[in-house]
This record gives sequence, structure tokens and C-alpha cells, in this order.
Amino acid sequence: NKRVAILLSGGGSNMVALAQSMTGDHPGRPVLVLSNDPDAGGLAKAQAMGIPTQAIDHKAFGKDRAAFDDALHSALIAAKPDIVCLAGFMRILGADFMAKWDRQMLNIHPSLLPKYKGLRTHARALEAGDKTHGCTVHEVTADLDDGPILGQAEIQIGPDDTAESLAARVLPFEHQLYPAVLRRYVTGDRTPVFLQQSS
Ligand code: GAR
Repeated sequence: NKRVAILLSGGGSNMVALAQSMTGDHPGRPVLVLSNDPDAGGLAKAQAMGIPTQAIDHKAFGKDRAAFDDALHSALIAAKPDIVCLAGFMRILGADFMAKWDRQMLNIHPSLLPKYKGLRTHARALEAGDKTHGCTVHEVTADLDDGPILGQAEIQIGPDDTAESLAARVLPFEHQLYPAVLRRYVTGDRTPVFLQQSS
């Protein structure tokens, strides 16, 4: 089995979707859930699922981003993952760190990349008057929210949508898309997965 580590900062609903998918004949297994926030709700959820957890509090490193990256890297090395999934991990990682996990690290981002890298993606899609929105899973490269696209799910934006309603409607698609991409990725298949809202 391929060993999968999952990095998060918050509630961990994507982590739960990924971990729940890795059972039975799935070629991957979750070996570590790691958070930069010791209070992240996702840690308790992982513990309840019997997955080893670890917190590396970025605040303990002050402004020294490289030292935080090094601590994260050491923790990952100890868990020997074949693949690392960022799942709502809200720290920006340095180019040196990302180079060490080149072609082994995935991220999910709540927009149709290359649109709306960074934060406030749902509000920005609304402000732009977009007709569609969604989420993207991509391979992590040295540039933020860049790298080869491995899957996208698209939904229609309605006239009554708010940033909150969009976030709530995109999230279930994240939970479908990320496991679907990971399932392929663990077998070395990088063919993109495209999902669409059935109307
Ligand atoms: C998800 O919507 C994910 O796409 C987003 O954070 C949320 C985490 O939710 N990620 C980013 O914005 C990355 N920049 P979760 O903790 O319930 O999975």
C-alpha cells in the first residue's frame, strides 16, 4: 500500500473524505494527519478514525518560516509517506520544502484554477460576475496554487449565491473530487478528473 500523509489547519472535512476513501482494495492508507494548529478540529477527527496525528505549531517558530518548514519536513520523513495531501492547510510553504516533495504532494483549492489563487476565492468569483465556480486538485509546485491540474469540479453560480452559500455548495464537491484524484494518483495515473454539478 502507498502511504499517505494529510496536512490540515482546520475542521478537516477533506481529510475525513480522503481517509474514509482509503479502505478495502484502495491502494493507499492514511499514515499521519499533521496540523500547524494544535487546536484544529481535524486532529480530533483523525484520532477518532485511529490515524496517528501530530501538531507542529507554527507560532512556536515566530517569523522563521524555514525552521517551521524544516520541522514539518522532519515529521513527514519520520512517517515515510509516498504521497502528501494538503487538505485545508493554510500555511504557505517555502520553495525549498516544496522541491523536496516534488511530484508527491497534492493540494485542493476552492476555485477553478488558474482563477483565484490565494484567499477569498468564493467572494472573488462572485465579484467577478462568474457564471461558474468550483474546486481544483493540483500537484504542488514551488508557486502558490500552481502546478499541474489533476481534477476540477464545476458548479453553476446562482443569482442568490453568497460567498457563504458558494463555499457550502463547493465543499461536497471537494469531498468527491479529492478522493477520486487520489485514487488515481496512488497508482501513478495523473489523468485529470472532471466533475460537474448535475442540474
Ligand atoms: C476547503 O474548502 C479547502 O478547499 C480550503 O480550505 C477548506 C478546508 O476545509 N483550502 C484552501 O483555501 C487552501 N488555500 P476542511 O478543513 O473542512 O477540509
